[in-house]
Amino acid sequence: MAESMQGLSRTCRCAEVSKDMAGQTITLMGWVAKNRNKGGIIFVDLRDRSGIMQVIFEESECGSEAFEKAGSVRSEFVIAVTGILAERAGASNENLKTGAYELRARSIRILSKSETPPFPVEEDSKTKEELRLKYRYLDLRRPDIQRNLILRSNITATIRSFLTGEGFLEIETPILCKSTPEGARDYLVPSRVHPGEFYALPQSPQIFKQLLMCSGYDRYFQIAKCFRDEDLRADRQPEFTQVDMELSFVDVDDVIDVNERLIKKVCKEAIGLDVQLPLPRMTWQEAMDRFGSDKPDTRFGMELCDVSEAVKGCGFGVFTGALENGGSVRGINVKGQAGMPRKKIDALVEQAKEIGAKGLAYLAVNEDGTYKSSFAKFFDEEGLAKLVEAMQGEKGDLLLFAADKNKVVWDVLGTLRIELAKQLGLIDEKKFNFLWVTEFPLLEWSDTENRFMAMHHPFTMPMEEDWQYIDSDPGRVRAKAYDIVLNGTELGGGSVRIHQNDIQEKMFEALGFTKEAANEQFGFLLTAFKYGVPPHAGLAYGLDRLVMLLTGSESIREVIAFPKVKDASCLMSECPSVVDDKQLQELGIVVSAAEEAVQE
Ligand code: AMO
Ligand code: AMP
Repeated sequence: MAESMQGLSRTCRCAEVSKDMAGQTITLMGWVAKNRNKGGIIFVDLRDRSGIMQVIFEESECGSEAFEKAGSVRSEFVIAVTGILAERAGASNENLKTGAYELRARSIRILSKSETPPFPVEEDSKTKEELRLKYRYLDLRRPDIQRNLILRSNITATIRSFLTGEGFLEIETPILCKSTPEGARDYLVPSRVHPGEFYALPQSPQIFKQLLMCSGYDRYFQIAKCFRDEDLRADRQPEFTQVDMELSFVDVDDVIDVNERLIKKVCKEAIGLDVQLPLPRMTWQEAMDRFGSDKPDTRFGMELCDVSEAVKGCGFGVFTGALENGGSVRGINVKGQAGMPRKKIDALVEQAKEIGAKGLAYLAVNEDGTYKSSFAKFFDEEGLAKLVEAMQGEKGDLLLFAADKNKVVWDVLGTLRIELAKQLGLIDEKKFNFLWVTEFPLLEWSDTENRFMAMHHPFTMPMEEDWQYIDSDPGRVRAKAYDIVLNGTELGGGSVRIHQNDIQEKMFEALGFTKEAANEQFGFLLTAFKYGVPPHAGLAYGLDRLVMLLTGSESIREVIAFPKVKDASCLMSECPSVVDDKQLQELGIVVSAAEEAVQE
């Protein structure tokens, strides 16, 4: 039988030993990371969440019973060791936080045994992610994941203390909510008491936090779980965590000010990074024109260049056709890559097509001044020279062009810009480039829905100077919305909210809601606004993304204790899963779809 804690208590964690403890008897507890028996001496690496301590068993010091027991432990056994903390006899191990010490064991208890783990619990595991996630509880023992989760905890502690210090109140909002079909797809929860009716899990606490402003709480925050049934990527999970906040009696600059100070504090405390304030700001229009993205990675150049003017009247139908259809022709200059092999260029063309382009035109400026190009034959010499000049092209450069509607052109060149920077090693990984993107369009035309959709959400305030266009040219109205971007990832977003009923009604009208539909979905908010509502604004960060970027992780799965995989399932607990017929009956639910039918 495994031994228990009776009469024994842990002195501290492995890496919490200090110089003044040397020579004292202490007790450490943890998992066996390694066990080497070198004849008369046994070395056990003991691991806990703080680090690893080398424990030494010598029969002359610990006696034969303990020595034998120490010889029997294997990886991942849980043990308690009592011994004398000694400064290392030999050279200290620089790789270990505890490298200057060793524990000279006097006694050992085996608190529990372990089967051979399906993969070694070690730093920088080469184990496949599926296996790691199936045995996540073992994976979570790995020092690198532990560091991530510890940093995450430190970051939330810093956020809580900062915001509380700034007068924010932490208030919880419901998880069982009303479904509001704007935005991503909802996760639904059936009601047993009201058969055929459903709660929705919150996509964000948006409406509740606005109601809290109506109720006078004036500065709210919450570390809030959010749920969105959308296609997953490296930086998206079906359930994720927001640092959510809302403030009353404020405008854009007030929200930005408090959040810049928050970011500065978090970066300093979490990773010792000094962030210079104020953070740069860029309008949405500038971000799209220069980077083809509303979340630009500004760690490298290769900015987009609008050459519509330079190609006007040229003989290349692809370019002139795009201009005639109200689109544009833009390019990126891939410096020094004129010699890029044809195969690689073809791969870029294919990638452009996958993003939605009809093609990608290229012009390589050879070292001898000649050109290699997919379209040069449609240009005269003067026209080509003009185009190259507009691109600031020099000998040795590769110029890539997309011609289409602006949205497609931005998308294609914005994506290729990032892809090429990665391939060519142009990104300085040590940089942390924060950026505010402001003045987003209020509305975005959706071809699939055949109507305008709110770019942020329907409660976002239009910019006062653009409101005049809401009827005549809705797409032109800019919003008091802002995103915070870090190294090309959208870290957070927010806006000033509409607090006037007439503007809100007009907004719903622009979104194609009838009065009844708006009332049905958001009636309680609209009614609340009739009883005195302060001007208010807010913002929410993706906490997982923030921690991912500050830990240099590739995916948010590395900073979430129990993440889901691409198809939104959990490999460890195997959810979602079928439920008992009895449960379904109670809920009045009949399942009709087979799994294959609903897979996207
Ligand atoms: P938004 O929808 O922009 O705004 O979300 C805010 C931030 O949440 C993070 N995020 C996600 N992280 C992981 N997985 C996801 N599936 C996911 N979706 C979003 C992003 C994003 O910037 N209520 C508004 C905020 C406001 O206006 O105050 C909102 O939810 O980092
Ligand atoms: P085509 O006339 O279709 O043979 O195209 C000539 C060149 O223009 C090829 O290199 C195509 O990849 C490229 N091309 C086609 N459509 C576009 C477009 N919309 N934008 C940029 N290049 C394009």
